[in-house]
Amino acid sequence: MDSISRTLPASWFCSPALYQLERRAVFLRSWHFLGPVTRFQNRKETIIYEIAQVTIIVENTSPESAGITSEGIIVYAKDKTRQIKYHLTPSGLLFSTLSLDTPPFEEYFAGLEALTNTVDFTKLPHRRSISYTGRFNWKTMIDGFQECLHCQYTHPTFSKFYPPTFYSVTNHQTFSQHIADPSKPSDGLFLYFFPICTLNVYGGGMSSFRTCPAPEPGMSRMEFDYYHNGTEEEFEEYFKFVRQVAVEDFELCEKAQQGLEGGVYGEGILNPVKENGVLFYQRRVRECVYKQFEVEKREKEVREEEDKVAVNGLEVGDGGVVAVQ
Ligand SMILES: [Fe+2]
Repeated sequence: MDSISRTLPASWFCSPALYQLERRAVFLRSWHFLGPVTRFQNRKETIIYEIAQVTIIVENTSPESAGITSEGIIVYAKDKTRQIKYHLTPSGLLFSTLSLDTPPFEEYFAGLEALTNTVDFTKLPHRRSISYTGRFNWKTMIDGFQECLHCQYTHPTFSKFYPPTFYSVTNHQTFSQHIADPSKPSDGLFLYFFPICTLNVYGGGMSSFRTCPAPEPGMSRMEFDYYHNGTEEEFEEYFKFVRQVAVEDFELCEKAQQGLEGGVYGEGILNPVKENGVLFYQRRVRECVYKQFEVEKREKEVREEEDKVAVNGLEVGDGGVVAVQ
């Protein structure tokens, strides 16, 4: 079997050293989705994000009378010595980096704006945000999000509205579009932004989650933001519906992580059609990590070579260290 269709090995979900490599290879070199502009509707509230141990702050400095637009939104790292980039799409979605080691937004998310510009993300007000710890690696959650083979038995309520029969995932360079029902293109926009963010428009509202990695590879922090236009009662009904799906996924992820850590599961084969979303993002993780590993290996070799030259070019005598003529 071609190695390309295999899953990442279990060790990639359990190793602290691998996470540190992922942090440098993936997280510090990616664009992360922070929210639609309505997340920053309250001018008095400073929104703080922590992604891969980097703290990012978002402020809306526009006057209250200005309405909800991209004007006045500023993003910066808490650590003043850390420089970052941020970008607002014409439809009102805010993205940020964690460093300057990232390609320009248009290059990283090539083709994304053509898709997101079809929706006006300034219309759904922010209603609620919740955050909690999960005992699973960030990839365990993304594995589940990127396929819907588990939907029918894990999400009976969701599957009633979005039958998994038609479910398909289209992968782009750094994002995936999930199509729940091709006959209802205006209902159910599900987007995955590599590596850890999603945007889900369904059930009359919109939600977004980030699976923020912890230095302990078997831990994550789930962060959900909810948006809705309806009354309090309508929102609570929507919230109950989407929370049900999230809780079902959460339980599945904690169990899957136990299997990964306990040696129950090592490595497997992915279905090239039904799990093409998993295949896509895992392949990208693998490529980024391999590339970073090679870069760091070369840097180490160069450093060692330089040290050798330095040692060879010096002589230690009574008068101390002197250069050899
Ligand atoms: Fe799920």
